[in-house]
Amino acid sequence: MQSTSCQRKPAHILRRLGAATALVSCVAPFAWSAEPSVPYVPTPHDVVERMLQIARVGPTDYLIDLGSGDGRIVVTAAKQFGARGFGVDLNPDRIRESNENARNAGVTDKVAFYQRNLFDTDLSQATVITMYLLPRVNLELRPKLLQLKPGTRIVSHDFSMDDWKPDAQVTMETSGRWGGGGGKSDIYFWVIPAKVAGTWRWDLTVSGKQQPYEVTLEQRFQGVSGSARVDGRTVKLQDAQLSGEDIRFGFTAEIGGMPVKHEFSGKVEGESIIGSAALSSSRAQGQQDWSARRASPANAAFRSGASRRAHAASGLAG
Ligand SMILES: C[S@@+](CC[C@H](N)C(=O)[O-])C[C@H]1O[C@@H](n2cnc3c(N)ncnc32)[C@H](O)[C@@H]1O
Repeated sequence: MQSTSCQRKPAHILRRLGAATALVSCVAPFAWSAEPSVPYVPTPHDVVERMLQIARVGPTDYLIDLGSGDGRIVVTAAKQFGARGFGVDLNPDRIRESNENARNAGVTDKVAFYQRNLFDTDLSQATVITMYLLPRVNLELRPKLLQLKPGTRIVSHDFSMDDWKPDAQVTMETSGRWGGGGGKSDIYFWVIPAKVAGTWRWDLTVSGKQQPYEVTLEQRFQGVSGSARVDGRTVKLQDAQLSGEDIRFGFTAEIGGMPVKHEFSGKVEGESIIGSAALSSSRAQGQQDWSARRASPANAAFRSGASRRAHAASGLAG
């Protein structure tokens, strides 16, 4: 596979100055009209493989690499992991190299490369997005990424997403950095969270009676907290977790004077959550279907000034 690398530079200087500076110092003269927001530095092959492993890329995935360089991430995803996908890059030379690399790897039926600005690229087909850009470009992309289908996985080489904390982060040694000079690569991984903020209601059967529940969820990126109102009392949610569209939380609430432990797990499907509830008390325990409805449509909540601010605070406004 072809690649164009920077000349060797002392790794500690590059890391201290910030890789942004390092990347800019590697820029070849631009021979195309639209100036790229990020210069070309390829991700070492062992880091590419690790990125794809962390994202659990497989044959059902559709991967998009934003600023795809010589196409190595898309080509590796197809050849070694069976995925389909495409890459976009502003530089026509990179697109030519990518097509050649795809031909050499025998994956032209699975991948494509387009000379296109990553900011003008439709990402809706993606189940996995990879990128090796710059911190400010990641931040500029963040609102667009947060609007993707819940469950879409994002992997970024070296650069984080500011206060959107990753779901996983790995640092690895690689000999492939800086033209063979070696160094450390950071890999950041996120799963796009479903939008769950709001008030949710449902009924369960407790001791043979219908029991109404109301839970209010607050959200900041994948972080969720909130409280439940049950039988006239409010309790705090415990262990609330959100990964893509999978949500779980628990609480202990008194019902008819008896403490009942509740554990909920389900899938967020727009304005519904479908899953199961496990209830246990000193007298009984059991599991039942759980179906919650959001009390007010999420979109309506984004219209008023107060709720626009709440949406921004949730992190989902970008
Ligand atoms: C650091 S390289 C990463 C290449 C490849 N993704 C990899 O990890 O090996 C960034 C690439 O993004 C491309 N690029 C920069 N700004 C872009 C933009 N606005 N739209 C599309 N490509 C862009 C550059 O031409 C360069 O090839």
